[in-house]
Amino acid sequence: MNHFLDIHKIDSAELRGIIDSAAAMKAARQGRARGMPDDDQPLAGQMVALIFEKPSTRTRVSFDVGVRQMGGQTMLLSGTDMQLGHGETIADTARVLSRYVDLIMIRTFDESVLIEMAEYADVPVINGLTDRTHPCQIMADILTYEEHRGPIKGRKVVWSGDGNNVCASMLHAAGQLGFDLTFTGPAQLDPEAEFIGLARKAGVTIQIERDPHKAVAGADLVVTDTWVSMHDSQSAKERRHNMLRPYQVNDALMASAKPDALFMHCLPAHREEEVTSAVMDGPASVVFDEAENRLHAQKAVMRWCLGL
Ligand code: CP
Ligand code: NVA
Repeated sequence: MNHFLDIHKIDSAELRGIIDSAAAMKAARQGRARGMPDDDQPLAGQMVALIFEKPSTRTRVSFDVGVRQMGGQTMLLSGTDMQLGHGETIADTARVLSRYVDLIMIRTFDESVLIEMAEYADVPVINGLTDRTHPCQIMADILTYEEHRGPIKGRKVVWSGDGNNVCASMLHAAGQLGFDLTFTGPAQLDPEAEFIGLARKAGVTIQIERDPHKAVAGADLVVTDTWVSMHDSQSAKERRHNMLRPYQVNDALMASAKPDALFMHCLPAHREEEVTSAVMDGPASVVFDEAENRLHAQKAVMRWCLGL
């Protein structure tokens, strides 16, 4: 069963195949209106359940549009609408959904929900974000980097800010696709040691550098994310802002990176917090290409899951 749970759990050659297929599917749609179907309809007759236990704009819309472009149908479900939020076990929910739908995408809090869903479902399960990782986002980010600058292999990526769920998937991709990653942020918010270890074991250089300007020296790509994630308690907001303020991505920080360095953010962004508008709207920024590429990358992920 081809579950898409995390980047480090998928063979590198398979990941490369998914990214290449996303680029080809995107190219095949050039000049076509968003609502026009793809020429081939690989998901014709297929039903996809999209489960959201947290808010979403990009993941929700890009999966929904992607399925429709490929000829399939979607069903949007919120955790609270389902019995899942009222005591039915994940395992039973997974078994029941498998009798109705061909593919399940779930955005949830604890990753154990995703793992249990995949263990008991008879259909592929896709990780649409957990507190711990966000692999679909990073597939889109790799596609975006390579569109603008060519192969990511051997490049230097710098993550500035919170070593959160999106950063974790970037670390997984570093190991699997062969690029170096430097994390710069406060020690309390370092990425998980297990994920750093995994990437290092794969042979890439993973560095921790507390000085953001030193960190971005030689960077090909600078990435950040919100200072307070959906799973973080709002009471931690002020403390996090104070710790993370030195890691804001602004023009001065970008000036310390390579002259042709790109800037990425998974969005939603909090302008003038983790990133200034000058950078978000500036020449290095590819944030809206990233958002678009969620669509193309996830279409390729769904085809891979279904073997189509
Ligand atoms: N980047 C991302 O996953 O955005 P949403 O939370 O809007 O889905
Ligand atoms: N780190 C953010 C990503 C949102 C797409 C969060 O988990 O809220």
